Amino acid sequence: MVKQKIFIDCDPGHDDAFALLIACYSEKLDLLGVSTCSGNQTVDKTYRNAFNLLNYFNKSDIPLAKGNPSPIIRESRICPEIHGETGLDGFEFPFYENKSNLSNGVDLLIDTVNKNKGIIVVTTGPMTNLGLAIKKDPRILNNIKEIVLMGGSTTEGNITKAAEFNILVDPEAADICFKAGVPLRMLGLNVTRQILVTKDVLSKAKKIDTRGSDLFVKLMEVFNKNQHDFFGLEAGPLHDPATIISLLNENAFVFEDMNVSIDTSFTDQAGKTICNKAQPYNCKVAVKVNVDEYWKTLFEHLEKCI
Ligand code: BDR
Ligand code: CA
Repeated sequence: MVKQKIFIDCDPGHDDAFALLIACYSEKLDLLGVSTCSGNQTVDKTYRNAFNLLNYFNKSDIPLAKGNPSPIIRESRICPEIHGETGLDGFEFPFYENKSNLSNGVDLLIDTVNKNKGIIVVTTGPMTNLGLAIKKDPRILNNIKEIVLMGGSTTEGNITKAAEFNILVDPEAADICFKAGVPLRMLGLNVTRQILVTKDVLSKAKKIDTRGSDLFVKLMEVFNKNQHDFFGLEAGPLHDPATIISLLNENAFVFEDMNVSIDTSFTDQAGKTICNKAQPYNCKVAVKVNVDEYWKTLFEHLEKCI
């Protein structure tokens, strides 16, 4: 079987962690590199978290680099209310020594894509690094088969009424990506808000009893508590793995072709993903999720992390 090559740009992040886990353990995917962005926490912390996660998954050989420290033109905006001071509160990793000398996530993304025609670029945080990479070296667009992102919404946002966090933090970066002319796949809040880490999900995960499920249960207990305290939710939505799961399980989501543009104003509409069915289509937008299929794929991968 030929594995699909992918690159992930992320801001781990409780939900990003499980996008990475699935990508690391899937036999169908070849994870060629990871960069981190400023989002759920500062870029230093999201880098440290991605580093710990790759080591925990025994994948310290995957190239990893820290991306841009802030959005392209706007002030940084982080989310400790949900992800804590570390960005991944709730789990104590062993100490792993960092021997990497890779320093620039934007360049790692550019190099990896330029060497790998047909690669899929997945983003689970603000799209800063991919936006900057496209600006710096537009040739990467010839090699990208698809951009798959968690972000946006066909309905309401979560940080403002109009906008979802990843797009709101860096609308200019998202705008570059949505205008890039390569196929896009958007997994937004309209579907990911239905993927809830309920008590039933947690008790099923506990029974798996692997290192992967231990990570999941410990992180999700904190994530759920924070989602409850901050958003008043009974169970937290596990957004980011939707990207990778959509690549692995075609029964998990239904997509519709849409024209999606980004509001880059400095108004209360900033960061809105304006979705409509007028042509030309530039994006496959997830409109339905089958949560049983979603958890099936996630649990299968928690089982592999022994
Ligand atoms: C997105 O924002 C972050 O808090 C999550 O990691 C996810 O990528 C959801 O709006
Ligand atoms: Ca994220």
